[in-house]
Amino acid sequence: MTSTVDNILLAYFGLLAIASYVAYATDPTQLQDFCVGINDPKAELFVNGLFCKNPADVTPEDFLFKGLDIPRNTDNKLGSNVTQVFAAQLPGLNTLGVAVGRIDYAPYGLNPPHTHPRATEVLTVLEGTLFAGFVTSNLPSGGNKLFPIVLHKGDVFVFPQGLIHFQLNVGKTPAVAVVAFSSQSPGVITIANAIFGAKPPISVDVLSKAFQLDDVVIKHLESLFWPSTS
Ligand SMILES: *[C@@H]1O[C@H](CO)[C@@H](O)[C@H](O)[C@H]1NC(C)=O
Repeated sequence: MTSTVDNILLAYFGLLAIASYVAYATDPTQLQDFCVGINDPKAELFVNGLFCKNPADVTPEDFLFKGLDIPRNTDNKLGSNVTQVFAAQLPGLNTLGVAVGRIDYAPYGLNPPHTHPRATEVLTVLEGTLFAGFVTSNLPSGGNKLFPIVLHKGDVFVFPQGLIHFQLNVGKTPAVAVVAFSSQSPGVITIANAIFGAKPPISVDVLSKAFQLDDVVIKHLESLFWPSTS
């Protein structure tokens, strides 16, 4: 038989458990840029992520992606090539919160400034030498701090979630990196083409003021082709 004190303690810890459950409950992380609600689910149906395959039909191949050892073609304007192994390419990653990739860099090739809105990135250099860096969000004191670094074969470097970062191959030979992400769908915003290559274009009035540039320069930048480094 339990005493009154025991009952009070039980009730107390029960309430504590409920309170901590409530305190730690959060919304699910977004897996795409947006998921606009609709009133009629029959009209159109999307899920935050991908539909799940019937577990009875799942095979080992659903968890397999092949060929990440194969060098990619870097014969483009930037001299780099990003191979994504996200949930879209490796369906077994769905709901698991991680992804990987491979980046090939020609000599002096650049992975241009970009951010991953939904993931921290861990980069490991397999071959070559990279000049890399990330920039903080706006500091309370004003400005943004750059964290620059030269990375050699075997080095592992972290780009915190959402921050603008880049890598430049500063060697005379091709470079290769593998990257890991803390999301099955990290998303990529390449700064230059998001700003100057948006469709429809961001108004010249907005960009000339924002970048302290003449309208003519902005119009020229908006007329260029901006390769999207997905
Ligand atoms: C990346 O490499 C693949 C295979 O080598 C190629 O098909 C693709 O067009 C390349 N992408 C870019 C942006 O150069």
